Amino acid sequence: MTNTAPLPLLANIVDDLAEHGWSLQPLFASQTLTLELAEECRARAAQGALSPANIGRGSTQTVNEGIRGDRIQWLERGQSAACDRYLALLDELRLALNRGLYLGLEDYESHFALYPPGAFYQKHLDRFRDDDRRTVSAVFYLNQDWQPGQGGELRLYLADGSTRDVLPEAGSLLVFLSADMPHEVLPASRERLSLTGWFRRRGPGLS
Ligand code: OGA
Ligand code: MN
Repeated sequence: MTNTAPLPLLANIVDDLAEHGWSLQPLFASQTLTLELAEECRARAAQGALSPANIGRGSTQTVNEGIRGDRIQWLERGQSAACDRYLALLDELRLALNRGLYLGLEDYESHFALYPPGAFYQKHLDRFRDDDRRTVSAVFYLNQDWQPGQGGELRLYLADGSTRDVLPEAGSLLVFLSADMPHEVLPASRERLSLTGWFRRRGPGLS
């Protein structure tokens, strides 16, 4: 299996971001890698390794299931072959974004996320008030055969006032500009798995 993202796919993401501020690629990674990542997310959950996600940053972090109800675990390099392959793909995307859009993206931070049935994440922006380094959000979905009636859409609020709902279907990568794109996760009738992350630009941030 090749571990290199096809170049036209990366170019599509760069073009979409420049033109619309977001991009959806339904087949970003191989089915094998997608299945391995889904299995790893479920295994981590079964081991009790996922924790209720915080909102806010630093000393103001709190858990509030009325705002977001997912459970997460941050990815680190060297934890598994599948995670390392995924991070290598995202690094190619990072370089393509830097070449095409001069974003100066320095790294990608990401976590597994599991939304139990009924969990949601209210409308928000991914950029923290006190740290503006998060520049591009990238969410990779791990759910086989997601049906429209099952909920769990990622709802994007576009600049023209319209909304766009994205199904969290296995293999899809959703990319958007973190500062410009309010979004929310709608509740689902089944468990919803993803790898959610952010490309951060160089610099000290704001705080
Ligand atoms: C987030 C988020 C979207 C998703 O974690 O900030 O918006 O579809 N996740 O899981
Ligand atoms: Mn978000």
